[in-house]
Amino acid sequence: MSKNLAYWEKAKREGRKLAFITAYDHPFARIAEEAGMDGILIGDSLGMMVAGDADTLKVTLDQMVYHTGIVARAVTKALVMADLPFGSFEESKEQAFASAARLVKAGADIVKLEGGAPMVETVAFLSLRAIPVCAHIGLTPQHVRQFGGFKRQGKTQEAASRLWEDAIALAEAGARMVLMEAIPSDLAAEITRRVPVPTIGIGAGPGTDAQILVLHDVLGLNMDKAPGFARAYVSGAALMRDALAQYAEDVRAAKFPE
Ligand code: KIV
Repeated sequence: MSKNLAYWEKAKREGRKLAFITAYDHPFARIAEEAGMDGILIGDSLGMMVAGDADTLKVTLDQMVYHTGIVARAVTKALVMADLPFGSFEESKEQAFASAARLVKAGADIVKLEGGAPMVETVAFLSLRAIPVCAHIGLTPQHVRQFGGFKRQGKTQEAASRLWEDAIALAEAGARMVLMEAIPSDLAAEITRRVPVPTIGIGAGPGTDAQILVLHDVLGLNMDKAPGFARAYVSGAALMRDALAQYAEDVRAAKFPE
């Protein structure tokens, strides 16, 4: 069964929790799909997880189109979401449409863009032109310079109210999903109850309709410090390091090839 937007909306109505993960290449996308993920995000976090940058700001639209294509080819059921990278959508709604259309042509079912109230008009423009949008609010990593680091958001009453209003405005403008990152749990749960579209949380507590984590954090492949809210389910880096060391040892000891 295709886990398309209708599947997601039905799950919200029925109160069923769904799981999203990021993936950036074909083999990991296949593994995620075989593991039964409901959604796969080609996140611009690839700038950090794959390219080794300190933030996501250098990621280009061409890179996102390439990675979306190779992930989408591996996925038959999960919803495929792709990020609009920094600099590819903020200038005008027309720029956003042209960029989003490239991601859809590459295989995205829905595009994600970061930003609250200033993005309402863009979300409406895309939504009216056949492009489903997920609005990403809270700790939006593309605003890291403005935030002065990767800092939790919505901590004051005023900031929380602004996020609440942004979420409602974005959903009313046509956003088909709202992703909330690193905001207080009670706020994320309240927004989830208030908006009619599925919400996805990361570091936003258990009250959202779905959860998302970065693949490298879940598999223990993040060689830098993973965020406190992430959970590693396997020590992937250590397992792979041991396997490679064993291979090298076998070659040196003339045990491979036999
Ligand atoms: O780029 C990304 O991986 C994301 C997730 C952290 C939600 O936006």
